[in-house]
Parts: sequence; structure tokens; C-alpha cells
Amino acid sequence: MGPDNRAPWWQDCVFYQVYPRSFADSSGDGVGDLDGVTAHLDYLRELGVDALWLNPVMVSPMADHGYDVADPRAIDPLFGDLAGLDRLVAASHERGIRLTMDLVPNHTSSAHPWFVEALGSAPGSRERERYIFRDGRGPDGAQAPNNWISVFGGPAWTRVPDGQWYLHLFDVQQPDLNWDNPEVMADFETTLRFWLDRGVDGFRIDVSHGMAKPPGLPDMPVTDIKLLTHQDDDPRFNRPGVHAIHRAIRRVVDDYPGAVSVGEVWVHDNAQFAAYIRPDELHLAFNFRLLQAEFDAGEIRDAIENSLAAVASVAGTPTWALENHDVQRSVTRYGDGAAGLARARAMALVLLALPGTVFVYNGQELGLPEVELPDAALQDPVWERSGHTERGRDGCRVPLPWSGDTPPFGFSDDPDTWLPMPSDWAPLAVEHQASDPDSTLSLYRRALEIRRERAGFGERLEWLPAPEGAVVFRRGTLICVVNTGSQPVALPEGARLLSSGPLTGAELAPNTAAWLSG
Ligand code: GLC
Repeated sequence: MGPDNRAPWWQDCVFYQVYPRSFADSSGDGVGDLDGVTAHLDYLRELGVDALWLNPVMVSPMADHGYDVADPRAIDPLFGDLAGLDRLVAASHERGIRLTMDLVPNHTSSAHPWFVEALGSAPGSRERERYIFRDGRGPDGAQAPNNWISVFGGPAWTRVPDGQWYLHLFDVQQPDLNWDNPEVMADFETTLRFWLDRGVDGFRIDVSHGMAKPPGLPDMPVTDIKLLTHQDDDPRFNRPGVHAIHRAIRRVVDDYPGAVSVGEVWVHDNAQFAAYIRPDELHLAFNFRLLQAEFDAGEIRDAIENSLAAVASVAGTPTWALENHDVQRSVTRYGDGAAGLARARAMALVLLALPGTVFVYNGQELGLPEVELPDAALQDPVWERSGHTERGRDGCRVPLPWSGDTPPFGFSDDPDTWLPMPSDWAPLAVEHQASDPDSTLSLYRRALEIRRERAGFGERLEWLPAPEGAVVFRRGTLICVVNTGSQPVALPEGARLLSSGPLTGAELAPNTAAWLSG
């Protein structure tokens, strides 16, 4: 409970994730920026979101598009400056929208002054102790210290000229920090306070299950795993020491009433996941089960049940997402084309009917599909590091279409946008969708409006009997039904509030969801 006995704002809200490179470009260089976000806040207010999560906008060489931070307390000129951030915070707050930023504690950029100093200093020096430098194995130390692989492909170690190796769980330009060194937390505290003092409402904390490394850095049992994935027992992540780090972070955040911390926690086991949101750790953690579920009644129900169970033991708040900047767009994931879009729209109604906190990724409300980009356009480090076997995450990061009939669709004045925009996106542009009551944008707006009007649909989710291939649940007066099968199913009793596709008679067509009041 908050100080006035009301539930904190972040326990039942809709976050909108802004990928700043791709949201809106105000400066005409083909890359989105902070003033571009500020200029479109009325769009976000009309959409009806409560809070924004901005992907990193700090100074960065952009090897991983901002997740390689060279100065955590300054804005990269590509996105603007501190005054631009202040304008965005103020303009968001004027519209009743909260603003959260993305912090990256697991690693820095190799251009961070600390790492530059470490490279210029001797093995064993205080400067090297801020990162994870080790001697190699073998007679001349020419073998990496252990067998760890980078999440982006290739070895997780790079050798420096004096023969030592440094650890980077991600790109070679993202050296892992040594969280056993108290200087690292002291600096992170300075960063947390820096942004909170400027009025931001909290943070999404990148790789929240990283940071702590196991003593002795033992080998991984298996190295032949899919890029960008890992299991709970992988020694690179989810080590017990991470919880002391979250407690230290929480002590700082608690100095700012109302501020929220949301962790990126790729941990599958429910008990281990719950540990991250104990009352003195993170406020929220992303649960990715729904995002990983196929468009299948059994999988959807399991994912929902699991996500609810994951937080129940610590009385935590469930979180839900169908998309983010690291995964394939849901329209494409669910089969692409008309069926993929119909399913993504149906899942939007499932998502927005769920209790707790929901995250919507920019462009999801437009039903944007994944874009098949030409090889030459690819920028994600995964493409290079995988030896061109994995195309990476650029396909879900293509700039948003706002208006007009040709690229760049009002996103920028520069037709040469940082990723090319498909020429057939005119019907998906905001301007076109806003005036069409059947568009995906209109569906999101209406669903968010109903969710807001009926605040507290009811906290408890109750499963109702469902025909084969369908999922039906109730939350207070709301009934949500989705048909994932190939045959129409009977609609439950209740007044029709909203549907993701046409309703004919008393039936719900395949690939469709409906909200009823009952
Ligand atoms: C997280 C981010 C991802 C980034 C990685 C390394 O998983 O969501 O985009 O590449 O961390 O910082």
C-alpha cells in the first residue's frame, strides 16, 4: 500500500514502451529522439496509457543501441540533451503520464571512462577490479578463462594486449561490471539518484538477473544453446548474490516515494522468479510466459496461470507483455498476414483484461508486423556475432508510421531512416488508423478506455468453463473470451462490450476475442 492506503500506481497500470530510435524523429536525422516523444504525448494520452518506459537514452557508442552506456548520467546527443529530458518529464506529468527510464547495471560500454582506464592499467590494478579481468588458461594463457559464450554469439571473453581477458556476456563492447566491488554499487546509486532527482518515476532495470557472478567462474555445463536464451541453472545468470544487489538498489529507490523499479528477469522457475520481487527487492519483474505462448488455448491458459502463481507467494503484482524490442512482433509470431493480425488483436484483448501491470511496445497498438530487412540494413550485433546465422532483433525495431502514403510516413523529415520502412505501411500509419473505428489502434484505444473506466475490473481472475479451443475468464464484471480454434464457439452470456473482430449472432469466430459484461 502507498502512504495514503491506496495501492501504488504501478500495481494496475499500462506502461507504453518507447523505443526512442524508432518512435518519432524531431531533428530530421532519421533517428527518433526525446523531443519526438514529447511532440507525440497527446497521442499517448489519447491512447490511454499511464506510464512510459524509455529504452536507454544515455551517452552510448550504440553498439547495442544504447545498452552499451558510456556515461550513465548524460543524454546521448542523438536523442537530445538533459534539457530535452526535463521537457519530456514535465510534459508527461502535465498529462498525468509517468516516465520511467532504462538503466543498465550489468555492463558498461567499452568507451566508458572506467573501462578505458582499466585497459590502460596493469593486471590486478584498482581500475581493472571494476570489471571482470582474468588470466587465460593454458601454458601461455591463450585460452579463455572459462567456456562461457556471449548471449549474442561467440565467446564471452576477449583478450587484451597484455594477455589478460575480460568478460562480456553480451557484445565485445559491453564489458561486464564486477558487482563484488563496492565502487560499482556506489556509482549506480549516484545514477539512480541523478535521474530520480530530475523527477523520473522509476526505472526498468536491464538484465536484472545478471550482475552477480559465481565464485570461481565455473564452466557452463552446455554451450550449444540458442542465442539470446539461457536456462535457470546457467552459471552466467540468476546467481544468489544478485538479491543483495537488488536490496541495495531498493534502499535507494525507497527514498523517492512512488518511484518504481521493474526488472528484466529471464528466470523460468516460479519460486526463483518470485525472489526478485520480495518486498525489499524489485517492485515488479517482467514475466515473459504470455509472450512465449503460442496462440493456443492450453498454452495461453497455462501462461496466465503460471504468471499469477509466480507472484502469488510474495503477494506481488503480475506483469504482462506480448512484445518488446527483443522479440518478434506478435502479428508475425502468431502466423503473419490476416490470421496473424487477427490473433494479435485477439491477444490484445486478453492482455488488457488481465489483472496487474501491462506493457505495450510501441507499434503494437498499430498491429505492426516484423519487417524482413535486407542484410545490408541489419544493425543488431547479433547478426555479426552469430556469423550471419541469426538476423537479430532489428525487424521489431523499424520506425513507427505516423502519416502520409510513402516512407518515412511522418516519422522523420529524412527519408533515409535508421532502418528502412516498408513502402506498404500507409494503411498502418496512425493517421489512417485513427479515423477507422475497426483499426487496431481504435481497438487498443477502446480497450484501454474500458479498462480505465472499470478500474478494478476485479482483482481476482476466475476461469469459466470454455468450449474446446477457447479460453474464458472473468474478472469481476468483465468476461474475456478468446477462440484459438478453427471453429466458431458459442459466446458466453453477457452484454457485449468489445470484440477484436466482427461478432456474428451468438458465436465467436476463430482468431477472435470478445469482452462481455456479466
Ligand atoms: C537486455 C535488453 C537487450 C540488450 C541486452 C544487453 O536483454 O533488453 O535489448 O541487448 O539486455 O544489455
